[in-house]
Amino acid sequence: MILSSTTAMTRRCFIIGHPVAHSRSPLIHGHWLAEHGLAGSYERVDVPPAEVRGFIARLRAGEFVGGNVTVPNKEVVLPLLDVASETARAMGAANTLWMEGSTLRGDNTDAYGFLAHLDACVPDWARRSGTALILGAGGAARAVIHGLVERSVGRILLVNRSPERAVELAASFPRTVEARPWQDVAGLVGESDLIVNTTSLGMHGQPPLEIDLSALRPGTTVDDIVYVPLETPLLAEARPRGGIPVAGLHRPFQIAGMA
Ligand code: ATR
Repeated sequence: MILSSTTAMTRRCFIIGHPVAHSRSPLIHGHWLAEHGLAGSYERVDVPPAEVRGFIARLRAGEFVGGNVTVPNKEVVLPLLDVASETARAMGAANTLWMEGSTLRGDNTDAYGFLAHLDACVPDWARRSGTALILGAGGAARAVIHGLVERSVGRILLVNRSPERAVELAASFPRTVEARPWQDVAGLVGESDLIVNTTSLGMHGQPPLEIDLSALRPGTTVDDIVYVPLETPLLAEARPRGGIPVAGLHRPFQIAGMA
């Protein structure tokens, strides 16, 4: 998204989701607006899926310059774009929208963001990750798998509470991703060099993620995309077992006390 600092006008940006009150986007993007001296605002707008079309009309009319999209609207916005990036089309979802003149463009930065954060925390993770274990099979899991496939992780094991969603997601990556039963998690932990929790379990207000990590091999990277709290029970348990914990929020935002 291009925001010019040459204008004194405050440009409005948005995060749309339903619910959206929990979103850290205004804090995160507000950090970058301040860092780059841009006159902009970043607002949470609660938009249920049935009202997305109406919101897009407001965007096109000039009320906002762009923004980002969270659950459950990432798939809904895609067919409403004039131009969707190749990544957004491949993922079947967009998380970033912006106007360029009268053209509404969209991209998906979820895989990029996941990889950039993992690279920053564990620079050699890809070289050491022959097998990855993904917990969850929703939109976040799809983005994570796209990222891992892009980095040539050869074997990805996928488990989910609802097994049919794991089977369906695995079918999109037939040579790399294998759906496995959730009950087998304890054994799969011992086969994995990288474990990623993409479920909401462990998040503040949600039940804890209870998996047996006794087979975890020291040096296994354990990445939890949950970032409230930063130190989830999964990461707290992985640490004394020699796991390399990766918290769900990039360091500058941890320091800024955003979690
Ligand atoms: P997102 O786009 O953030 O991935 P989602 O598509 O709603 O959101 O997916 C949420 C994931 O968390 C799913 O894998 C979901 O499992 P189901 O497919 O069985 O619903 C998982 N999840 C949420 N609550 C859960 C719980 N109490 N136990 C196990 N898995 C849970």
